[in-house]
Order: sequence, then C-alpha cells, then structure tokens
Amino acid sequence: MLITAPQLVPQDEITLKIEGYWLASGILGVTGSSMRRVINAGADAVVTKSIGPRPRKGNPGPILTASHGGLLNAVGLTNPGIDQFSEEMELMKSSGIPVVLSIFGSTIDELVDVARKGVSMAPAAIELNLSCPHAEIGQISLDPCLTYDFVHAAREVADCPLLAKITPNASDIVAIGQAAERAGADAVVAINTVRAMKIDIYQRRPVLANKVGGLSGPSIFPIAVRCIYDLYSALSIPIIGVGGVSSWEDAIEMHMAGARAIEVGTAVLQGIGIFRQIKEGVQVYLKEQGFTDISEIVGIAGRT
Ligand SMILES: Cc1cc2nc3c(=O)[nH]c(=O)nc-3n(C[C@H](O)[C@H](O)[C@H](O)COP(=O)(O)O)c2cc1C
Repeated sequence: MLITAPQLVPQDEITLKIEGYWLASGILGVTGSSMRRVINAGADAVVTKSIGPRPRKGNPGPILTASHGGLLNAVGLTNPGIDQFSEEMELMKSSGIPVVLSIFGSTIDELVDVARKGVSMAPAAIELNLSCPHAEIGQISLDPCLTYDFVHAAREVADCPLLAKITPNASDIVAIGQAAERAGADAVVAINTVRAMKIDIYQRRPVLANKVGGLSGPSIFPIAVRCIYDLYSALSIPIIGVGGVSSWEDAIEMHMAGARAIEVGTAVLQGIGIFRQIKEGVQVYLKEQGFTDISEIVGIAGRT
C-alpha cells in the first residue's frame, strides 16, 4: 500500500509521496550534479538547500566543526537567491524523482515572494525552512503565532504540497506543529539542527566565528525521536522525520516514533551508500518481524 499525502497536487507529472528516504536540505550543496549522485544512490526524493529572496554569502568562517559525534555548523543560509536557482532546479527535476524546494524569507512578504517564484519552478513540494538556528529565521518556529502566519501566507500562494520544517529549540514543539497544521501545512518536517556551541580551550573562545551553530548527526537522534513521538499523537498531518539518522535501526526507531518518511543529512557525508543500507535493512527487518508494510510500524511506539 502506498502512503500518500493529503491534497496532493502533481507537479510536472511527478507526484510526491510522503514515504521513503530523502536527502535533507543543505547537504551536498545546491548543484544539480550532486543531487543526481544522491538520486543514483537510491534516495526517494531530494530537498534543495534553502533558497531565499536574494544571493546570500552566509557567515564568515569557521562555519563547521565536529563535536561529540555530531557536526556543528553555522553556514548561515548561503544560497544563490531564488532568481538564480531556476536552472539548477531544471537540472534536478530532469532526474525524474521528486525535488522538494526548500525556501526561506525573513519577513512574510519575502517568503511570499520566494514561494511565488518557487511555485513557478514546479517543484514536487515546497519545504518552508522556519527553523535555522544560526540565522534570523530561526525565531519563526520558536513561536506558534509566527509559525501560523508564515505557513498561512505561503499556503495562500503554494498550490503544491507544503511542508513546514520546525525546530527542536522551541520550548513546546507540539504547539508549533499544531500551528503549522492549522495554517494549512500538508506535513511537518522535524527537526532542524539543535542550537549548540563548541569552545576551543586553548584559544579560550567559541570555535565558530558565529559563536553559535546548529548541531546535527548522531548526537541529536534521541532529541529528534522525542520530538516526533510528541508530535505524532497531536497532529493529523504526516511527519517527515529528520535528525541524526545513520543506520536502518535508526530509521525503524524514527518510524516507530511517528515518521512516515525520513530525511537523511549528516550521515550522507560519510557516504551516499547510506540510502541503500537503510532501505535494505528496513525491508529485512519488516519481513523478519512479520510486517508487510512500513505503515504498520509508523507511530507504533505511541500506541502501546
Ligand atoms: C552543513 C549543513 C547545512 C544545512 N543547511 C540547511 C538548510 O539550508 N536548510 C534547512 O532547512 N536545513 C539545513 N540543514 C539541516 C538539515 O537539513 C537537517 O535538518 C539537520 O542536519 C538534522 O539532520 P541530520 O542529523 O541527518 O543532518 C543543514 C545541516 C547541515 C549539517
């Protein structure tokens, strides 16, 4: 049985299904050729780097460091701007798998402008980045009212599936997810990176020039599982899980918390073979445990 998102609108004859394993936003740059490598490696969909209203250089370096099994980044939403992105979008779409366009705007007017231009590129869906912890937009999904306003404004112009990516840094992530659902999001993507810091003990100052960054990778996996578990019982729309998945066992756990589809980010940097490893491991597990379809385990941990 295929699980499909509600209110699906086919774009360019490619219909996005909220299932499988996707490349998370911001990983492997924004080029069509890097996306193609991921597609060939078995990803079911790719999410682009977040694209904003105008070209953006991002933060000064250092922007990346490793810490406690994870990756700390303060890239700062480097991107070419929506007007420059249509060529890359065309390249990516020609691969034949769904391309989800991730967008952001610091104000509602900016977001609506980017969303309008994004829709004209006919992506399979639009993912709203409301949650980057080292840029001004990180504030949006800390607050249910702002979340509602941004998602609602994008909903008005987006006639394709709309995904709201939210932050674990909110004190009540369920209230944020519910605001996104009320505003018309077709799915919630949880989670973006966790606000974090590393200090160089010899330099006696933060390693990142931006001081604060977003932590990703295995060290945030249990945080993502908790967020998804809490959201699952409170929302009717599907949850796309992301955060620290690096094995098929992690994927099973995240499905059991409530994720219908899963995005993989930092683990892809260790090798793009991760998509096949996850898919094969999940299939073997389902068969061994007597399940016929992944839908039987989505949210199962909250049903007991
Ligand atoms: C270097 C880097 C850049 C990222 N850029 C973006 C971005 O542009 N937009 C976004 O929504 N998330 C971005 N993320 C967050 C990831 O999409 C993902 O939500 C997060 O890393 C958690 O998943 P992971 O642990 O599997 O990497 C970025 C993450 C990293 C490590």
